[in-house]
Amino acid sequence: MTSTERIPFEKLYGDGQKSGPLMPWNIGGPQPAVRALADRDALGGHVLDIGCGLGDNALYLASKGLQVTGVDISPVAIECAQEKAEKVGLDVRFVAADAFGLAEAGVRYDTVLDSAFFHTLPRTEIPAYLALLDAITQERAQLHLFTFATELTPDFPGPRRSSAVELRTDFEATWKIHSISSARYSSSLPAAAVAQMVDPRTFELDAPTQNLTGVSVDENGCVVSSIWHLHAERLARPA
Ligand SMILES: C[S@@+](CC[C@H](N)C(=O)[O-])C[C@H]1O[C@@H](n2cnc3c(N)ncnc32)[C@H](O)[C@@H]1O
Repeated sequence: MTSTERIPFEKLYGDGQKSGPLMPWNIGGPQPAVRALADRDALGGHVLDIGCGLGDNALYLASKGLQVTGVDISPVAIECAQEKAEKVGLDVRFVAADAFGLAEAGVRYDTVLDSAFFHTLPRTEIPAYLALLDAITQERAQLHLFTFATELTPDFPGPRRSSAVELRTDFEATWKIHSISSARYSSSLPAAAVAQMVDPRTFELDAPTQNLTGVSVDENGCVVSSIWHLHAERLARPA
């Protein structure tokens, strides 16, 4: 598999197992960094959670009173998210769809939350991602994007990494960058599992792992990655 190919998420979710080494993002609750943003009222208006996965971030935002739409390409993930919403009585619009088709719906969001979606895309799709954001956001919309960092994330199998310089270069033409700061992304993956991790890009068992010295773990012994948090605001378009 090459870096121009997408990760086969439907296959990952499609086995009906909503956890396990292939889904290290399934931590059973919101990402702490997302929760912190919501807790300090940093998000507002109609929020799109792009690549929302199993819905925990979107549900947390809704629990804080925000209007939230969550979109994910995996129908299994969206079904799971909808079940959770019903169970806790929260109103989130969960949609099973390819995010790249969202422009056609004509909805313009005030805030886009991207928690570990951007880094699943090959670099060749970044122009399409930027065009998508352009089409689905209001002027002055806020973007909060959490993505694996070249500088910060140990070299275990996983999605594409970006450097802070790359992020700035990718986004600054159309977004005013407020900050690119270091944040933490929790996982359900015990450190011991990293060495035998299945590479989601290749489905290879025991994929080669180098440079694991920097792996941090939380109080449950699960890997926590240092990632970039890009906070940006959509620039006005020329008339
Ligand atoms: C690493 S997971 C992150 C899930 C969630 N945002 C979180 O932080 O827990 C990436 C998610 O993006 C979804 N995804 C990948 N490509 C997509 C696409 N083209 N449109 C919508 N969702 C997509 C996957 O199905 C997966 O749920």
